[in-house]
Amino acid sequence: MTAEPGNRNPYRPGAAVSPLFLAGREREIRRFRATLHAAPELPANVRLTGLRGVGKSVLLKRLEEIATEDEGWLTSRVQVEPRHYTEADLSELIGGLCRSAELQISRGARIRETMRGVAASARGLVRVTWQDIELSLGLPGSADQEHSVTRALFEVAVLADQHGYGGYLLMLDEAQVIRDDRDRSGQHPLSLLIAAVNTLQENEVPIGLVLCGLPTLRANLLKARTYTERMFRGEEISRLAGSEAAEALVRPLDDTGITAGEALVNRVVAEVEGYPFFIQLWGAELWEAAHLAGVDCFDTLLLDSVEPDIYHRLDIDFYDGRVESLTQAEQDLLMTTAGCPYPPLKTADIHNKAGKSEGNVNVLMGRLTEQGVVFRVQVGQYEYTAPKFHDYLQRRAIRMARRGR
Ligand SMILES: Nc1ncnc2c1ncn2[C@@H]1O[C@H](COP(=O)(O)OP(=O)(O)OP(=O)(O)O)[C@@H](O)[C@H]1O
Ligand SMILES: [Mg+2]
Repeated sequence: MTAEPGNRNPYRPGAAVSPLFLAGREREIRRFRATLHAAPELPANVRLTGLRGVGKSVLLKRLEEIATEDEGWLTSRVQVEPRHYTEADLSELIGGLCRSAELQISRGARIRETMRGVAASARGLVRVTWQDIELSLGLPGSADQEHSVTRALFEVAVLADQHGYGGYLLMLDEAQVIRDDRDRSGQHPLSLLIAAVNTLQENEVPIGLVLCGLPTLRANLLKARTYTERMFRGEEISRLAGSEAAEALVRPLDDTGITAGEALVNRVVAEVEGYPFFIQLWGAELWEAAHLAGVDCFDTLLLDSVEPDIYHRLDIDFYDGRVESLTQAEQDLLMTTAGCPYPPLKTADIHNKAGKSEGNVNVLMGRLTEQGVVFRVQVGQYEYTAPKFHDYLQRRAIRMARRGR
């Protein structure tokens, strides 16, 4: 943990911005190390899922550091975007990542060999040849793209192995956007990726896949290939437990000359329910307020004075954009859910409140799922992907009523 010099705010509310102190997550990190150690005999695949702002991306970054710095793996990490939805676009993305990783090897080769005393090809882990793998590739359908993705991954993994790396780890953030179309004639990028990695791993090629995203990712994977449930170690990234949340709030203050009172810490921890983004936001606002007021302790009086501003900023920074990017029909349905019991959201309740047909409600909920606003927990039941979203929608409903719409 590094202290921030001078008066710089030591909190980091944002997307994928690493906190000064990463609280909790020791278990996830321990299991990740174990997964890498067991490869390639056991496939090094991890599925990280969790709600918005729970800390998936910063954990993914930390896991990448561990993989490269401590465990000696070659890695590529990227945030997938909706435009990577087709098989061709995903293949291109992976091809590009593999090429950059290969360049990274050639740049680092001399240094690594000197440092580790590892001679090229000394480990000989990869005994299979490309021909062995080509024979086991499926023929029809997406064979061409699958062939090229498998080949690109095979080449970089072999090169990594020859240069003494533990293997090649592909890490994809926001992976819930890669999903298969339901109809057979559509796009199946997720199946393509899974099949390519699985083919290589069956041949003990040292390659691993870390997929990180919203809870929908799990269902997408299952739909693509039922065997994915066994292929990945599933990690549900949850909110921080009470003591971890308190640490996330207090530890960034180390060496800053500012302290946080116990009553204040307890109140913030209860209010934010352990969600890391909220902890960073509350901390950042308290820090600014303390500086403005010229005090050196966060206490409940200070919190009283900034709480309305915190909620205002929370709504603007974290929630509003998620609603405003939706179509009017989607927004209207979402606002209806503010008046339904929660959790979970039941389509029957929405149907009663919205005065829309069940079919119509189902279509709109399907669209909200695709947009990453809700996810299906079971037939007819959904939850929001952002924490405390139901409270937010209720605040928004009041705001809208005041404005007369
Ligand atoms: N373990 C933690 N301890 C302290 N702060 C954390 C922790 N994890 C995440 N944060 C903070 O929470 C915020 C959100 O983190 P991050 O962007 O990783 O969430 P996410 O789950 O990827 O969100 P999204 O689903 O929107 O992509 C950041 O401000 C980050 O600094
Ligand atoms: Mg993220």
